[in-house]
Amino acid sequence: MEENLLKFITCGSVDDGKSTLIGHMLYDAKLLFADQEKALELDSKVGSREGKIDYSLLLDGLMAEREQGITIDVAYRYFSTERRSFIVADTPGHEEYTRNMAVGASFASLAVILVDASQGVLVQTRRHARICSLMGIRHFVFAVNKMDLVHYDQMKFKKIEKDIKILMAEFDYGTLKIIPVSATEGDNITVKSAKMPWYTKETLLAYLEEIDVKEKDEWKGFSMPVQRVCRPNHNFRGFQGQISSGEIAVGDTITVMPSRESAKVTNIFQGDVPVEKSGSGQAVTIQLDTEIDVSRGCILEKDYELSVGNMLAASILWMDDSRLVSGRIFWLKIGTQLIPATVMNIKYKIDVNSGAEVYADAIFKNEIAFCEISVGSNIVFDKFENNRELGSLILIDRVTNMTSACGVVMYPLTRGGNITWHNMDITKEMRENAMEQKSATIWMTGLSGAGKSTLANEVEKRLFAMGKHTMILDGDNVRMGLNKNLGFAENDRIENIRRIAEVSKLMNDAGLLVLTSFISPYRMDRRNAKEIIGQNFVEVYVSTPLEECEKRDVKGLYQKARKGQIANFTGISGKYEEPENPDIVVDTSKHSLDECVEIILEGLKPYLS
Ligand code: ADX
Repeated sequence: MEENLLKFITCGSVDDGKSTLIGHMLYDAKLLFADQEKALELDSKVGSREGKIDYSLLLDGLMAEREQGITIDVAYRYFSTERRSFIVADTPGHEEYTRNMAVGASFASLAVILVDASQGVLVQTRRHARICSLMGIRHFVFAVNKMDLVHYDQMKFKKIEKDIKILMAEFDYGTLKIIPVSATEGDNITVKSAKMPWYTKETLLAYLEEIDVKEKDEWKGFSMPVQRVCRPNHNFRGFQGQISSGEIAVGDTITVMPSRESAKVTNIFQGDVPVEKSGSGQAVTIQLDTEIDVSRGCILEKDYELSVGNMLAASILWMDDSRLVSGRIFWLKIGTQLIPATVMNIKYKIDVNSGAEVYADAIFKNEIAFCEISVGSNIVFDKFENNRELGSLILIDRVTNMTSACGVVMYPLTRGGNITWHNMDITKEMRENAMEQKSATIWMTGLSGAGKSTLANEVEKRLFAMGKHTMILDGDNVRMGLNKNLGFAENDRIENIRRIAEVSKLMNDAGLLVLTSFISPYRMDRRNAKEIIGQNFVEVYVSTPLEECEKRDVKGLYQKARKGQIANFTGISGKYEEPENPDIVVDTSKHSLDECVEIILEGLKPYLS
């Protein structure tokens, strides 16, 4: 039974005795096979506790942990007592492994946080509580360990208990339990301690056996992200997924989000077994009475006000080695939906130790930030506090396909939801026809001084002479007007290129042939520009080498940059990522201006007819 399974996470610092504590629970709960117990005894002879059984060895799954004495990954253990089954995620306490803790916490309903009685509440205790809370844990147990080291002193415990309560007052939690224990001696782990008669409540294991962590979701309607459309033959079409909230019965009317079409449920299957109704946590196949459009990523819902929109505010934990700056575009995954999305705005980062909101324009590995995310098209989601599944997200790097961040939806931003696209009567095609041309954006990229502006100017003159309607957008010029509030830091450059792409698109919609000349140093941004502009995006790489650009140094900027007077100067102190598959390449150091213009015009032919 799902309800009888408790998934919990343990958090503690390197020396808090976490592994020993869990090991002891497993041992006392008589979960070891005889030979494993023997092996443990043998192992302990060389262990640290001089002949006594070293319970932490039980959890040392990883060689590295044995060698370094710290846990470096999440280890999952199963165990069960007569009353309940448990899965425990044992996570490392070391600061740089925040990510593992977040991963462990995202799966758990309860956290056991260890506090060393001889040290009390520490900075890391706060960090553990904060990360667990951010990842949605609502049930907390603090095991105040090593009570033997403080002579089982009730006053010491009371002081720590008070500090824990003050700390927890910051969070919105469901239950809180504080238990004095000694993991090595076994006090209050599975057996009541004779040494602490002043503690009259349950032992840790007894508490974990009883605690009710069921989400109070009676009020919530039914929701299920569609994982798969199942069509084994012509007569059967079912929608498979795991119910994330509420209940559903045969005969109910459901709505498909985001299309808002409705249909009646005709059959529900749990595995192969037809059932009349089903509920939260179950994996089911649902059949509907009409042939409406449902695909992977859609959500089926009933009596549930899910948000549909393309802007949201989220708290995210950044896990990538490279830093996050606003403007970056990712794959966003919520439920079974996967869509491009941009981190528009980093509002602030959260100091995990103090909880303070700190101004930040970049986020580094293991930092938590509050940010605004804009999504490429409408998605269905909910606040995390309402729905763990449709309220949690991950951001995936579009180049490496690695998970860069995980996070939770704080609230939808209505800006997106309140804006609708108006279709106008005069279309782009009509404008193009009137001008007797096809619009396109000719996107020049390359180093400063490579010759982009000169080439753009010459190519435009030729196009103009051919009777084309054209426009040039040029780096220095646009930066004097539209983009005068932007500098050359990474996030400003991302925004510079995004705006240019949007303006080019508008000009293309007006029927114009647009030439842009911007360094546009980042591959990701050019790809983003291409996505914004759509078809008829022609990437022209002006590949003049750095040495040549520096030799020319028309504006004297390379010299200044070499002297360290210009920050993040492309090619010197800032990176330039060469295009991987440019449509046209020209090198102004190898060809004359006229030759380069001819190369470009030749390459443009397919786009000009
Ligand atoms: S981009 O990187 O954001 O695409 P953009 O093409 O708009 O740059 O502007 C580049 C021009 O700004 C350069 O030709 C140069 O004149 C000037 N400039 C000033 N500071 C820098 C810098 N740090 N890096 C590159 N160009 C700079």
